[in-house]
Amino acid sequence: MKFFIDTADTDEIRKAAAIGVLDGVTTNPSLVAKSGRPFKDVILEICELVDGPVSAEVTATETEEMLDEAREYASWANNVIIKLPLTPDGLNACNTLTDEGIGTNVTLCFSANQALLAARAGASFISPFVGRLDDIGHDGMDVVDEIVTAYDHYDNIDTEVLVASVRHPRHVTEAALMGADVATVPPSVIEQMFQHPKTDLGLEKFLADWESVPGSE
Ligand code: E4P
Repeated sequence: MKFFIDTADTDEIRKAAAIGVLDGVTTNPSLVAKSGRPFKDVILEICELVDGPVSAEVTATETEEMLDEAREYASWANNVIIKLPLTPDGLNACNTLTDEGIGTNVTLCFSANQALLAARAGASFISPFVGRLDDIGHDGMDVVDEIVTAYDHYDNIDTEVLVASVRHPRHVTEAALMGADVATVPPSVIEQMFQHPKTDLGLEKFLADWESVPGSE
């Protein structure tokens, strides 16, 4: 499974890229607003840090305006892909961008049926939002399981399942067990994924024991 980072904070992206675990980046309007920086500056800097797909989201709600934004963003760097909402206009734009060879990430997906529609529109990625489903008492990972299972039945579906709205490390484990293609993970959850008390205790003991090895400093 590939790892994307879900942030517009370039310091965090730089850190994760240095560890070597980064296959791409997802942003959204809320994350860009949080960065306090102009959208284009942020996307350009991210594209220099990471070779993989960098999602830049349109904010227009009608197809033609979405396409105008999308074509502009796609011209900024080779690895920009266009994030589009799962609406009829969004899928209409997705269909056109796919024909033009521009990568897409269809976002705000909350059901397998929505994911089937996005696949027919040629989406490069579909982003089911697991955390936001959990928030309203559903099990977000059940939707991921349904999407992966449904897509697997059809050789002509190339859309990758990108698990989004990840809130904790268990979401990541389950995404991998279900065979999702990608998880986009916030920096805080990447940090949590490293954590295990036995790792800390084991390291502490190895370092303490090393002190008694003759000749060690
Ligand atoms: C990523 O593509 C999504 O925009 C993001 O994961 C949403 O996460 P949130 O539900 O924590 O805002």
